[in-house]
Amino acid sequence: MCGIIGYLGKNEKKEILLDGLQELEYRGYDSAGIAIIENKKLKNFKAVGRLKNLREKTKDYLSEGFGVSIGHTRWATHGKPTELNAHPHMGAYSFVVHNGIIENYQELKKELQAQGVNFLSQTDTETIVHLFEKNHDMSNNTWQAFQTTLSKLEGAYATLLITEADEESIYFAKNGSPMLIGFDGEDIYFASSDTPIIGKATEVYYLEDGEFGYAKDGKIYLFDANGEKAFSTQALATDKAMAQKDGYRFFMEKEIYEQGQVMNDTMMGRVLDDKIDLEELDLNLFENITNIKICACGTSYHSALSASYLFERISKIPCQIEIASEFRYKEPLLREDTLFITISQSGETADTLEALKMAKRAGLKSLSICNVDNSSIVRESDASILTRAGIEKGVASTKAFATQTMVLWMLAIYVAQAKKTISSELLEQELQAMRETPKALIVNDKLHAKMTRLSKRYLHGHGFFFIGRDIFYPLALEGALKLKEISYLHAEGYPSGEMKHGPIALADAELFTIALMPKSLHYEKIKSNVEELCARDVTLLAISPEPFELADDYVQTTYNSHPMLEFFEMMVITQLLALEISVRLGNDVDMPRNLAKSVTVE
Ligand code: M6R
Repeated sequence: MCGIIGYLGKNEKKEILLDGLQELEYRGYDSAGIAIIENKKLKNFKAVGRLKNLREKTKDYLSEGFGVSIGHTRWATHGKPTELNAHPHMGAYSFVVHNGIIENYQELKKELQAQGVNFLSQTDTETIVHLFEKNHDMSNNTWQAFQTTLSKLEGAYATLLITEADEESIYFAKNGSPMLIGFDGEDIYFASSDTPIIGKATEVYYLEDGEFGYAKDGKIYLFDANGEKAFSTQALATDKAMAQKDGYRFFMEKEIYEQGQVMNDTMMGRVLDDKIDLEELDLNLFENITNIKICACGTSYHSALSASYLFERISKIPCQIEIASEFRYKEPLLREDTLFITISQSGETADTLEALKMAKRAGLKSLSICNVDNSSIVRESDASILTRAGIEKGVASTKAFATQTMVLWMLAIYVAQAKKTISSELLEQELQAMRETPKALIVNDKLHAKMTRLSKRYLHGHGFFFIGRDIFYPLALEGALKLKEISYLHAEGYPSGEMKHGPIALADAELFTIALMPKSLHYEKIKSNVEELCARDVTLLAISPEPFELADDYVQTTYNSHPMLEFFEMMVITQLLALEISVRLGNDVDMPRNLAKSVTVE
């Protein structure tokens, strides 16, 4: 989803903006642009496609001396990915970049057009810059014009504006989309997340919704609805190494390999010898709670679905799962004895964030499980548990899913401890299985080579069915999502017992079936379901510790008495399968077409 960068200071601005945008690539984009004002000279460049196109266009330009500058990577929402629709958007003497959606832009646009304003793009963003200039033409006061402009905007936005009418300031506002301000002496940076400014700024301030203001003379003037406000900064993280590829071909590949390691971080200080300790939680959070509702999107929804089995089975608490975009408009009946849990890798997913706000308005207590500290969802929640997966750059989520699932598993045990629904023997078994999880996630060379070899047989066909039962059903959904995201092949996840109620009609030799057949959970049941499919001649890839003679292809996993260990081992196999199929098809593994890492629009 769109990324924003801004810089005010004396250093060369073009490289700061382009490098910053490079760090925001993971959010997904289809065009990019920059605008710089310095020494009364205004420069603006835009390009469709990858940042290298923008670099090429700007190669003969270098900024000099003090100035203000803004940049943007755009993921098309209103209007196609063209140069005219790329940000920064231009008025007669000002430029704006924006992330989010101005919901009333049609109305504003009509009013402005009626006053003779000519629009160049099809975007909602362009209304901001024209509105600002109209207001400025009337008041001749840039700050007042900016505030009047904000008062007219409805929807979500993070926005930066620079203008020749005040060449020394950057105007900013945040409402619903992420933005932070970085500081290094008198140099000031703006960005959608902290990666672009790590190594440049030393201190950071994460803007809250409803905050706006301007940067001038190395200072920030910050306001909200109550007027000017004081703020304090915090030290900015310095470790960018985690965000580099470390010799892997793709970030996604590196992130698959990292899962064993990051899982240790996820469990550190939480999985103790005799219990789960989540020190970020106060037991009050669970007072008077009789059920749990979990709300999320995409991969995070799949981890929620697997957790629903664990909460009911281990914690003995009713647990319902909701897709955030559906939940928002179903007029849900919310009861205050429900704990509302949101799960999000980015912490910025608009649907999940809005669902959380709805639950809070209804008086529910909230808990978020998130990978990004200080993200909007974390800040909005009563409590949160961080997944500690480190920066995930591949658009297709891998280690975030693994760590979310682990946090949910720990939480299920934690609730069971508090409710005393778990015996000491079972608790010991669960803790032991958790300790063995990092080992189950290790990718060995033989396995990876096998998946590379197998992948060449799965590049065509009329579709994939990933099937499983119980917690392996959400894993099947996740395996199918991974494959479709990066291979662009059609794939579905299905409960294996449900195939006979319809999808079995599709069965023939060109239907690739990936069967998750754990030995520790309902093996005989899933075996019968798979046999029914084999009798209809599907091409079968069986993933199981138990050899299966009807399988066309077979990946052997470890015999494990705990289903979660089988779950994590099979998860890695499905991730590698998707990766290797995508590589053979020549796709962009880390930035698949049409997808964005952080989905900040509904
Ligand atoms: O950041 P979130 O976890 O809230 O994102 C939710 C989905 O957009 C995300 O999981 C998406 O499905 C990924 N591309 C999956 O690989």
